[in-house]
Amino acid sequence: MENVTILSHPLIQHKISILRNKATGTSEFRSLIEEIAMLMGYEALRDLPLEDVEVETPIETCMTPMLAGKKLAVVPILRAGLGMVNGILALVPSAKVGHIGLYRDEVTHEPHEYYCKLPSPIELRTIVVTDPMLATGGSAVSAVNFIKEHGGRHIKFMAIIAAPEGLDRLHAAHPDIQIYVGHLDRCLNENAYICPGLGDAGDRIFGTK
Ligand code: PRP
Ligand code: URA
Repeated sequence: MENVTILSHPLIQHKISILRNKATGTSEFRSLIEEIAMLMGYEALRDLPLEDVEVETPIETCMTPMLAGKKLAVVPILRAGLGMVNGILALVPSAKVGHIGLYRDEVTHEPHEYYCKLPSPIELRTIVVTDPMLATGGSAVSAVNFIKEHGGRHIKFMAIIAAPEGLDRLHAAHPDIQIYVGHLDRCLNENAYICPGLGDAGDRIFGTK
C-alpha cells in the first residue's frame, strides 16, 4: 500500500512484545511507548527537509545541513497519544505540540471530540499525529479530518499497533498522508479491541482502569 510503512526493526518488535505482556507494569509500559515512538520517529522523519547553513568549526568555516522550514508539529490524540510525544521530542526538541482530544463511545465505538489546539501556522508544518492504537480507525480519520480542516497538509500518522480494518479505513479516507505502524495485528474483537493487541493503551500508560 502506497504511503503505508510497517516498521520491522527488531528493537521495535522486541519492545512491542514486552508491551503486550499483561504483567508489564505502568512505569515500564510508559517508558517503552516513548522508546518505540523514538525509534519509529527516526524512520518516519527521514524525509525532513534540510538546508545548508554556514558553521565555523575549530578548523574552518563550512556549509553543513540543518533542518529547514517551520518547526515540526507533534499532535497526540488524547489520551494515549500523549505517551509517544516525548519520544519524538527527544529527536526534535524544537517541535511544537498540538493536542486533539477524542474518546471512543464504549457502545458505538465512534469517536467524540472534546479538545483541540494546533500550533500555527499549521499549513507550513510537517505534522506527526501520534496514537499507539489504530483500531477501527475512527479516531485517526476524525483527527486527520480536523487537522486538514484547519489547513494542515504535510501529515504523518504514527501508530504502534494497528488492526487491518483501521489501517484500511485510514488509508482509504486519507491516501495522501504517510502512515507508520509498528506492528499490524490480526483483527478486532467484538468490542473493537485489537487482537492480540495490548489492551487499553490509555489505561496502561496512565494506570487508570
Ligand atoms: C483509544 C486509542 C485510540 C482509539 C483507537 O483511545 O488511544 O485513540 O482508542 O480506536 P479507534 O481506532 O477504534 O478509534 P480511547 O478512546 O480509549 O481514549 P483514551 O486514549 O482517552 O483512553
Ligand atoms: N484502543 C485501545 O487502547 N486498545 C485497543 O485495542 C483498541 C482501541
